[in-house]
Amino acid sequence: MEKSLYQKNAIVTGGALGIGRETSILLAKKGAHVIVSDINLTEGNKVVTEIESFGGSAEFIKCDVTCEQEIVTLVETFKFRNKRLDIMVNNAGIANKPTFMHKVTTEVWNRLILMDLTSVFWCQKYATKLMLGDRIGGSIINVASIAGLGASPSLGPYCVAKAGVIELTTTGALEVARFGVRINAVCPGWTETAILDVAGERGKDAMEKNIPMGRLGKPREVANLIGFLASEESSFITGSVYRVDGGTRS
Ligand SMILES: NC(=O)c1ccc[n+]([C@@H]2O[C@H](COP(=O)([O-])OP(=O)(O)OC[C@H]3O[C@@H](n4cnc5c(N)ncnc54)[C@H](O)[C@@H]3O)[C@@H](O)[C@H]2O)c1
Repeated sequence: MEKSLYQKNAIVTGGALGIGRETSILLAKKGAHVIVSDINLTEGNKVVTEIESFGGSAEFIKCDVTCEQEIVTLVETFKFRNKRLDIMVNNAGIANKPTFMHKVTTEVWNRLILMDLTSVFWCQKYATKLMLGDRIGGSIINVASIAGLGASPSLGPYCVAKAGVIELTTTGALEVARFGVRINAVCPGWTETAILDVAGERGKDAMEKNIPMGRLGKPREVANLIGFLASEESSFITGSVYRVDGGTRS
């Protein structure tokens, strides 16, 4: 694989499993030094070991994205080493258990919005500030969802949070476009990871049947798009929102 991210520094939140894991590995294969960040130490450290096994460079830093101060500390890691933060992938996220909107409790609502929207606001905010300060730009990639682009009954809080991530991306991107900081969003369709467990086997079958390509996505297929947006190959792209969903339109 071409080392298009040689000497770049990257952070991936939720990097221990699923899409974040594949993204961490892909960015490292492209030559970046990757901070794999997550609340899951065991799986996060396994990703680092895997990256090191092919000669890549990575480290694990624990960060719970529901805590603003932990995000500040994570994002500023490279600053304290006198290095740049080039790539920030805001990927950590959870889904709500399927529930109609009128039955969603305030507790579930607040948890989802904190985890899937406010955390991305904090990650984008502090990464942008740092990249602006360095005056050499950078690439921020927010992982939203096709659920943020249209209605998905029973996934109300998740849809609202992901729609918010899309607006956070497009608005934030235009504000800093002139300064070389690019902000884009990827919207995966249903992808084979643990997050789909909330839907159960029947729910997963229904999702799969609804995908024109006839199968769930693979985490690697989402990571490929993130890798492109992280690299200079996408140097004229900002404020954009990309679907990676096997053709799903509902
Ligand atoms: N899999 C899908 O079908 C799908 C579809 C659309 C969007 N997405 C989005 O992709 C992103 C990654 O999800 P995934 O499918 O890989 O799920 P996953 O459950 O496999 O991975 C999520 C990761 O986030 C970590 N995490 C959970 N809470 C955290 C916290 N408080 N702080 C830090 N890390 C935390 C988990 O430990 C895990 O490593 C999420 O934002 C999700 O909404 C997934």
